[in-house]
Amino acid sequence: MISLNYEEEFSEIAKNLKASEIRELLKFTQQPDIISFAGGLPNPKSFPVEKINSIVENLLKKEGASVLQYGSTEGVNSFRDTLSEFVNERYNIKTKRENILITAGSQQALYLLAKIFINPGDHVIVEAPTYIGVLTAFQSYSPKYIAIEMDDNGMDTHLLEEKLKELKKDGIKPKLLYTIPTFQNPAGVTMSLDRRKHLLELAEEFNLLVIEDDPYGELRYSGESLPILKSMDKNGQVIYLGTFSKILAPGLRLAHMIANEEIIHKAVLAKQGIDLCTNTLGQYIARDYIKGGYLIEHLPNIIRLYKGHRDLMLDMMEDEFPENVRWTHPDGGMFLWVTLPPKIDAEMMFKKAIAHKVAYVIGSAFFPNRDHKNTMRLNFTYSTEEQIKEGIKRLAEVIKEEIS
Ligand SMILES: Cc1ncc(COP(=O)(O)O)c(C=O)c1O
Repeated sequence: MISLNYEEEFSEIAKNLKASEIRELLKFTQQPDIISFAGGLPNPKSFPVEKINSIVENLLKKEGASVLQYGSTEGVNSFRDTLSEFVNERYNIKTKRENILITAGSQQALYLLAKIFINPGDHVIVEAPTYIGVLTAFQSYSPKYIAIEMDDNGMDTHLLEEKLKELKKDGIKPKLLYTIPTFQNPAGVTMSLDRRKHLLELAEEFNLLVIEDDPYGELRYSGESLPILKSMDKNGQVIYLGTFSKILAPGLRLAHMIANEEIIHKAVLAKQGIDLCTNTLGQYIARDYIKGGYLIEHLPNIIRLYKGHRDLMLDMMEDEFPENVRWTHPDGGMFLWVTLPPKIDAEMMFKKAIAHKVAYVIGSAFFPNRDHKNTMRLNFTYSTEEQIKEGIKRLAEVIKEEIS
């Protein structure tokens, strides 16, 4: 019997895959008596269980075994057609079946985009802070990150312009720009219309590909809705990612990439080596859910539920948090972003929070270079109203102790 040293056998890419410290920290949050604002889960009350049940029953009765068969890598044609009709009308874009790839969540779409676009050392522009999952999806392809600061109006496109000019002087052309313009994860902020226009002007001037990740756009609780970047994209530079995770159910693992046909074709080739096709039954379920008008019918229920949670969390923070703490006031989505006084380190404070039976995600995890130690992300969709009330009280105590 020989015994293999697996560590030696792993590929260079696998050797670089490390469990994030954040995942380690999140383990603490799963203790049953902890009120956790750390996760990013939708509220299970938002899942239309009965409706999905009746759609599945109908599908199996009417279409039988075909809904359980492998499908094409691009996605089920009738679902892509239904989806293109839906997004064209709702987002004022002109997309066809050929521009749509159905993926196993938008997380997979991010991975596919890294696979088809990023060579090690390529420059990728992200927002500061950005979605942790994009850093995970891209990590095997070892890009260099350029993080652009945000304010209440999203990514600061004037800083972006300066940075792009600087890079051009050094002969560097970034490969991709990744943005979550609406109800950003983690910051909760939304890019203003002026900045959306400016960003696209810059994309044109500097010949940039833009990934518009939009899992939360449909979850608006206040304010005016804004056009998606894709609807203002004249040159096919925007790759739009939508998902059913937050408006239907994340367990279906169903999302869509909308892009120029050439990009879709390459992403299909990359996907063939990963999973052949996205879960077929889920695609039929989502098709009939949209076609039957249930998505449009049910969205206001989700919005009502989450608006209540957001308002309650903001009110509680207003009442309980000390004066020198600031936070964002998101018009939608699932998260808000807290900035503590500069001397407070949210990572150091985490243990104290766990001792007080409350949890958050430390903000530095959302920055490629792990700075901004005095920040944290709070989720307001998953906890019950009672948990929000009690959890914010506990968190306020922790912060006050830490400040004093
Ligand atoms: C900004 C962003 N992108 C992508 C995802 C991945 O979503 P899914 O793979 O469930 O579609 C998430 C999930 O939280 C997210 O917040």
